[in-house]
Formats: sequence, C-alpha cells, structure tokens
Amino acid sequence: MAISLAPLPLPESGDTSKFADFGREVKGVNPGTLSPEEFEQVKDALYKHDVLLFRDTSLTPEQQYALTKAFDPQSESYGHGNNKTGSNAKSILHPDLKTIPRVPQVQLIGNGTVFEHEGLAEAKLKHPSHTTFHKTRVSPEDEAKGITRFYRWHIDAALYDLSPPRVTTLYGITVPQGNRQTCRYDDGTGDELQVPLGTTAFVSGKTMFEILPSELKSLAVRSRVKYSPHPYVWMAPAHALSTGLGIESEGLELPADQLPPWEESKIKILPILWKNPVTGQLHFQVHPCGAAELLIDPLPSGAQREGAIYPDGGHITDVKEVRDILYKMQRPAIAPSLVYPHDWSERDLVLFHNRGVLHTVVGAFATDQVRAFHQCNLAASDDPTGPSAEDVKKWC
Ligand SMILES: [Fe+2]
Repeated sequence: MAISLAPLPLPESGDTSKFADFGREVKGVNPGTLSPEEFEQVKDALYKHDVLLFRDTSLTPEQQYALTKAFDPQSESYGHGNNKTGSNAKSILHPDLKTIPRVPQVQLIGNGTVFEHEGLAEAKLKHPSHTTFHKTRVSPEDEAKGITRFYRWHIDAALYDLSPPRVTTLYGITVPQGNRQTCRYDDGTGDELQVPLGTTAFVSGKTMFEILPSELKSLAVRSRVKYSPHPYVWMAPAHALSTGLGIESEGLELPADQLPPWEESKIKILPILWKNPVTGQLHFQVHPCGAAELLIDPLPSGAQREGAIYPDGGHITDVKEVRDILYKMQRPAIAPSLVYPHDWSERDLVLFHNRGVLHTVVGAFATDQVRAFHQCNLAASDDPTGPSAEDVKKWC
C-alpha cells in the first residue's frame, strides 16, 4: 500500500487558515520497517508539515532509535547526551527522564509507577507540572476543576555543546483517559484553551515568524540568541511565566561561577530563524528559557531605516531586556487559535520537526494515572542554518 497523508483533526479553537500545511496523519506504511523509499517520503512530509502522526503502531525502542537516527545518520547520542551523571544531575530536566537500558537514546517518560518495562524493574515517573516551575500556580481548587497551564514551551535541545536534534519521536504506550482540561494563560489576556488530558501542545515556528509585524520580522532575521552555558542548570532555581513561554526576571538564575565547568567555545549562539531544509521557509526557533543574550546585525545596505528596531545592530546582555523582546515576538504565536493540542491514543507515534515547532507538556495527572511514553531525539551532526543574505534583504 502506498503512503498517504491526511490532515490532522484540528480542535474547534484552531484557525484552519493557519494550519493548512501543519500536521499530517501518515497512512499505509509501518514506521518501524520503512523501506529507504518510504523513509524519503516520510522525511519530506515531516519538513513540509512539521508534525506527523502514525496510529496503531508497534515500535520497539530499537526501531524508534533507528527511525529517529535515519533523519541524521551521523547523530549518535541522545539530544541532551547519553550520560546522565555529573553536570546533568543538577539539570531541571533530570527527574523527567528514565533511560531505556538497552537503547540509551530512548527515554521513558510519563506518570505513575511502571513495572517490568523494557529492562526497568520499576520506574517512578512524574508528569512535569507547572506548580513546581511557574512563579504563580493555579489554585488547588481550580486544579480540581480541571484548570491547568502550559508547562514549558521549548525546543528539545541541550543548547550547550550539542546541536539541536532535527526530529523528536514520541510513542504513546500507556495513555490514561480522563476529562478534558482548560489550559489558562493567566497573563491578563483572558486567553484559555480546551485541551485533552495530558496533551502535547505544538505551535508552528513558521507561523510564529509569519504573523510578526514587519519591524519585528526585520529584527528576527538579523538576530542570534546566545544561550547560557548549561542552561537547564542555570534556570533551575528560576520561575517561569504563567504562559510557560520563558522565565520571570527575578535574578534567581544560578551565577556562572556556580555552574558545572563550562567552556566559552561550547556555548551555543544560534540564529532566531532556522531555515527549513526542504521548503526554504524560516521558522522562529528560540528556547526562551535558556536565552541569555541577543546579538543583532545592522540593517543591510539599502534597507529602509524608518521604523526599524536596532537599525545599527546591537548586543543586548540584560537578560530581562532579552526576554522582553523575545516574548513580544513569540507570544502572538501561542494564541489559542494557533495551538495544536494532540489528543493521544495508545500506540500513537508522533514525529515532530524539532527545528520547526515549539512544544510543551500540558496538564496534570493524579498519581494513580499511569502514563508511559517512549521519547527519542538525537543531538544533531550540525547546527541549524540561519537566514541567507537574500532572506535578510527580503525581510529588512
Ligand atoms: Fe520536549
């Protein structure tokens, strides 16, 4: 049977005009045993549509690793490194991941206690909750009524030393069913979104760029983000905004001299916009929590200076200012009408273009609601490509 692509079901809240290219269900092939020709079609579809869903799949950790690796054959280790000792132990991500012993690039994530799972006798899993990460929290009374929040909008990437993975594969093995929840933004806008329990929410980085006014497009196309060394250790004492889209500037980040040893040469400086290798389109790809500085190029010669922000370029080192600028550019794209909240069924396999979307965990489970997922992404063999000289000319 030939491979076929069908649109993903959008929630009522979704703006269909903005999701025309986004997300496809892939039918007619087994993702664990793709032929080279089938894989090329899947790869092409991933870069064109950013999120791919395969339903009713059976996938071993070995097959999941092989599928993920096929997008970047030279990649080898898990996106945050395979070794979870030493400096990684202090990371904010450490408690969320349990490694499959046989295939250390595949992580077991979820909620509750899982027994005799792929060589793990007992794994205690905890679905990350905004209550331990955001500065403010939904009251327990509202939580009991099903109110929740986006946990943390992000790209899967170590953002130090290692390069951002091209693709992440998420395989739902045990998926508890429960009532839908209301995800509240709590940022004064009144925005909220109805979501399935334990959804993974996605937004398009392409849309994030496309909906910006021209002066912010010009700024984005000229800017690079310098990430903190060991960003997940750096941010661990800090608190997030109520939208999960970045950190409150309270000066709580770990000072550089208290971080694990680091080298200037391993710090990541990445363009704000990443060029899609298949479509050539630009995706706004910034992990707002890890951003420390902004480096802005001056306008190219001949560009219109009127109304331009930082026409002569700049280097912003004040982290609050950096965050304010990024938030202004990223917040529009997480509006309820632009979010795709995936409604998980057991044996769903979701592949997402990690260099083209932002995503977040949402919601809260009770301790007895057991959920088990396998997640795999691999530190890439290169850094993403930024805008070309023509792109800069076009958008300035
Ligand atoms: Fe993630």
